[in-house]
Amino acid sequence: MTRDTVLCDIGFIGLGVMGKNLVLNLADNGYKIAAFDLSSEKVNDVILQDQQENNSDIPRVHGCSSYTELLSQLKPPHLIVLSVPAGAPVDQVCENLIGAGIGADDIVIDTGNSLWMDTVAREQKYKNNFILFSSAVSGGEVGARFGPALMPSGSAYAWTRIKPIWEAISAKVDPHTGKPLERTKPGQVINEGDPCAAYIGPAGAGHYVKMVHNGIEYADMQIIGEAYHILRSGLGLSTDDIADIFEKWHQGPLDSYLMEITVEVLRQKSSDTGTSLVDLILDKAGQKGTGLWTAVSSLEVGCPAPTISQAVYARSISSFKDFRVQAAQKLSGPQAVSFTAEEQTAFIDRLHDAIYSAKICVYAQGFQLMKLAAKEHNWTLNFASIAKIWRAGCIIRAVFLQPITEAFERNEDLDNLLLDDFFAGQLNEHQGNWRKSVADATLLGIPVGALSSALSYYDSMRAEVLPANLLQGQRDFFGAHTFERVDKPAGKKYHVQWSSPERKTVEIPPVQK
Ligand code: 6PG
Repeated sequence: MTRDTVLCDIGFIGLGVMGKNLVLNLADNGYKIAAFDLSSEKVNDVILQDQQENNSDIPRVHGCSSYTELLSQLKPPHLIVLSVPAGAPVDQVCENLIGAGIGADDIVIDTGNSLWMDTVAREQKYKNNFILFSSAVSGGEVGARFGPALMPSGSAYAWTRIKPIWEAISAKVDPHTGKPLERTKPGQVINEGDPCAAYIGPAGAGHYVKMVHNGIEYADMQIIGEAYHILRSGLGLSTDDIADIFEKWHQGPLDSYLMEITVEVLRQKSSDTGTSLVDLILDKAGQKGTGLWTAVSSLEVGCPAPTISQAVYARSISSFKDFRVQAAQKLSGPQAVSFTAEEQTAFIDRLHDAIYSAKICVYAQGFQLMKLAAKEHNWTLNFASIAKIWRAGCIIRAVFLQPITEAFERNEDLDNLLLDDFFAGQLNEHQGNWRKSVADATLLGIPVGALSSALSYYDSMRAEVLPANLLQGQRDFFGAHTFERVDKPAGKKYHVQWSSPERKTVEIPPVQK
């Protein structure tokens, strides 16, 4: 065999933006790739980019024109990575691989944002044909190229084969500072630091964790969006002034990738008009579904995640543009308010604390959701490890993930981040400004669904008494649904004979099983 006919280490299917960049990342880390896409243009594109970036004359990427050719180019047992849209395309590729003769020992890794239940079903469906492993990828195109966060799950055997590859291509974190180690140039590799790739659990667990990552991403983005809206429409600041404020906040506990890119988006001018681009972007948000899945799952599991759900609603409301334009002519809001320079500074400082506090609540919701889902599905999730792999590479990466890691290292059984001493202390310190900030926005007529739902979550979760006693009385009135009493032993059920004149309270005997 000549040197360039050496069999490839990894087969790669799907050469869209994410796929192409993952291929080049794998190649930088010394893996030879057999690459296939239904579009031959995309195959040629990755080969060309590899030629431009590769310092040696031995090609690192071999282009394939069929599934059969792809399998024939791989070292057995085959390792194949898919980067195709979630849903039917994943099954289509799996069927094509079966048709091309994939073997039972071969491993297929789905890196898309598949619905976690589909992954569980697929692992079973294809178990006699090949090993389906899943590993969601976060970090967008730059992450895929220079180090994403990876959330692998499925067969433990498959993980032993994938682990060194995944640890090589993932983002890395300085173990001493918890900060990302930057990798920015083609050809550059980082072999030190904590890799942002850790085994999550059995089939489905990794995609569930990625789904919650995206739910948090939605809420995080919505909170930043609400702050921008308050500053732009409430205080009338320019987008450059808002960028300056966010840039300053980015130096403190709000330091995050999402804050960093927000500054860039705010500073961007339109190349044709020369004016602020963000002012020209239509205010209708898109969504591909992972935030919705998180909200639905939180309702099914019975775990409160109101700020994540609110962020999904906010995107839906944004899409009612025509309605909003009409309603704006008909429905009134408060009178405009003006602020002195001193009042404006205090207002902005309060807003900082509101974002920070709401953000703590969003992560509290996301982590508790994962905890309750894990219990329901018998997964053993390591929350410190999940927080660790989110410290770099992924879209929600932030300095904030370091104290979350530490909270779960202090107490691996922590039910909710609100009960961690550090986060409880932060919330106790900032809740006053948070309340005022939500009130500031409300008085200005600026919608702050995420900031305020997080505050209600905080107040509900810390309330020893909630009005559910009255609700239970109502349920018993119209449906004889019974209630428990605070002055009687737990578990005993009572009912009021509402339709009799005496309205006697009677104890309901336990149902015999
Ligand atoms: C990531 C992102 C990625 C993608 C989302 C966007 O972690 O890299 O979350 O998965 O950008 O799918 O989702 P929406 O289109 O729903 O905003």
